[in-house]
Amino acid sequence: MKIILKIQRYNPDSDETPYIQEYEVEADPNERLLDALMQVKRFQDGSLGFRKSCAHGVCGSDAMRINGKDGLACKTLVKDVAKTDGDIITVEPLRFLPVQRDLIVDQAEFFKKYRSIKPFLINDEPVEAKERLQSQEERLAFDDTTNCILCASCYSACPVMSERPAFLGPAAISQAYRFNADTRDRGFEARLKALDHPDGVWPCQNHFKCTQSCPRSILITKRINQTKHMIGKQREKDI
Ligand code: SF4
Ligand code: FES
Repeated sequence: MKIILKIQRYNPDSDETPYIQEYEVEADPNERLLDALMQVKRFQDGSLGFRKSCAHGVCGSDAMRINGKDGLACKTLVKDVAKTDGDIITVEPLRFLPVQRDLIVDQAEFFKKYRSIKPFLINDEPVEAKERLQSQEERLAFDDTTNCILCASCYSACPVMSERPAFLGPAAISQAYRFNADTRDRGFEARLKALDHPDGVWPCQNHFKCTQSCPRSILITKRINQTKHMIGKQREKDI
């Protein structure tokens, strides 16, 4: 089928403002949008900039806004976003991160926020057995969050970010939950500085846009609310 890709272009070295460029592509409805973008890059316009690596929804590098929704180009089929011949698909970079070029954003701020929640197991207690044991039920409590590929789709989908750019964002909070809910971890207090902060968990208003956009089906909003609950319980204990 014929599809029209309307892609946001921007080269900060030569363009004053972003603009939309149109490309007509012959694509199989079962192909991925990433294939259509590759077709443009290979045969129509080598100057088009976008990131990709695994092409299988694992590396998280090709997150972008497709028809106004955030997601991975390699997990979006052409038929998911274009129904009939000549349909238009808009492709834009993720929001709330500076555009380096075309669909490539600078993720430094996203990763700075992610690092601020100390996304690693913290436990200085001596290990009694050979390893820190955990039951299957305990492991299941945070199972979905271990699937995060740090693609930043949720960050771009979050309506709170537009009013509050300093907000920690959905990915960082759900990754804090990943360790806070881990029975082997003792780092909850160390993460509180970032989480129990005016720009930490509290600006979340349960819009659920993060959860809807996540290509790994992580229950992000639920994990944010559980983190708020954990902080509330900790405050009660401290009184
Ligand atoms: S939580 Fe989902 S949408 Fe957000 S960064 Fe992780 S994989 Fe991407
Ligand atoms: S290219 Fe790796 S997730 Fe899409």
